[in-house]
Amino acid sequence: MKLINNYIPLVFLFVLVSCNSQNTKSNSASLKDNFKGDFYIGTALSADQIEQKDAKVDELIRKEFNAITAENIMKSMFVHPLKNKYDFAMTDKFVAYGEKNKMFIHGHTLIWHSQLAPWMSEIKDSIEMKAFMKDHITTIVSKYKGKINSWDVVNEALNDDGTLRKSVFLNTLGKSYLVDAFKLAAKADPKVDLYYNDYNICEPKKREGAIELVKNIKANGGKIDGIGIQGHWRLESPSLEEIEKSILAYSALGLKVAFTELDITVLPNPWDLKGADVNQKFEGSAKMNPYPKTLPDSIQTKLADRYAAIFKIFLKHKDKISRVTFWGVHDGQSWLNDWPIKGRTNYPLLFDTKLKPKKAYISVMQLKENKK
Ligand code: G3I
Repeated sequence: MKLINNYIPLVFLFVLVSCNSQNTKSNSASLKDNFKGDFYIGTALSADQIEQKDAKVDELIRKEFNAITAENIMKSMFVHPLKNKYDFAMTDKFVAYGEKNKMFIHGHTLIWHSQLAPWMSEIKDSIEMKAFMKDHITTIVSKYKGKINSWDVVNEALNDDGTLRKSVFLNTLGKSYLVDAFKLAAKADPKVDLYYNDYNICEPKKREGAIELVKNIKANGGKIDGIGIQGHWRLESPSLEEIEKSILAYSALGLKVAFTELDITVLPNPWDLKGADVNQKFEGSAKMNPYPKTLPDSIQTKLADRYAAIFKIFLKHKDKISRVTFWGVHDGQSWLNDWPIKGRTNYPLLFDTKLKPKKAYISVMQLKENKK
């Protein structure tokens, strides 16, 4: 009996130590290590995150991700606010952050109709637009030559039906602006990977448009290395079949496939209700913001299952996929809390507002852990 009593504290100590070591094991696991050799795991960074304003968020970023995209600060309105003025203060910090942490650095974005500086939207003729594009692309790409690893050269040039969007670029230059942009970027940094980036391009019609766009760039002597499928998705759509078809179709064009802005909304979509006047009708509506405090476990599980199913496809085609980037680090910072209706509480990412890994994180991690 005495002998047993002597052993009890020892057994207790052993259990304690082994529990702790398991905790340490799972605490030290990370997305970037788990998918090492498959594809980069990236995140979009806000200005505050680039400036490392919150030490805990910063620790999480450095632990989990090995690729970064600036969520906003590299867009035209911030980096090129006036015709003769560039502002590289924040972009320099962004690139330095990536270099310091040995991360893959993605540039977002050079030519996009949105978040333009006001003077850019006012350009009316082709000569001025050509001069703008040459100056803008050459200056920015040359500045970060050899530092930025890939660029979204053109962002969102397509409508949902696959036709070209009537942007200030199309209106002044016609569709040749697309190939011009890629040629200018390649000239400024011949080694950097150049991407076309867009949303909904897993949908059949828009996918056809994107394929045409890529073929057109190539046929006219432009260098294009990859396609960025943004991946602003829903629990129900796009279907896994369309995602897989898209990976295969884009890769068949000789392109690297990147998932560049992944997030999954769990909230009702105002466009599902016919004739909805999105913002005015639904701002403050409890029906459209059903989980203001916490996400019910059943939906948490749905989100986890959806993420796992998507990552299963990514792993199946890892030879074609260069990078999977989430559009934000944690739910609290997601643009989906304010779009398409302001002030909602959404849960689209793998970490919650308290920076804790969600069920979705575990389900994605387990895809690899089970195989080890
Ligand atoms: O810069 C102003 C700041 O001065 C002001 O104090 C603040 C007050 O709200 O607004 C700031 O501008 C915001 C900007 O982000 C920078 O933070 C805009 O209101 C806000 O609308 C803007 O939203 C961004 C959006 O692009 C703009 O279109 C989102 O954060 C960003 O996540 C989102 O990202 C885009 C990708 O670049 C391209 N693909 C779609 C994706 C989601 O829309």
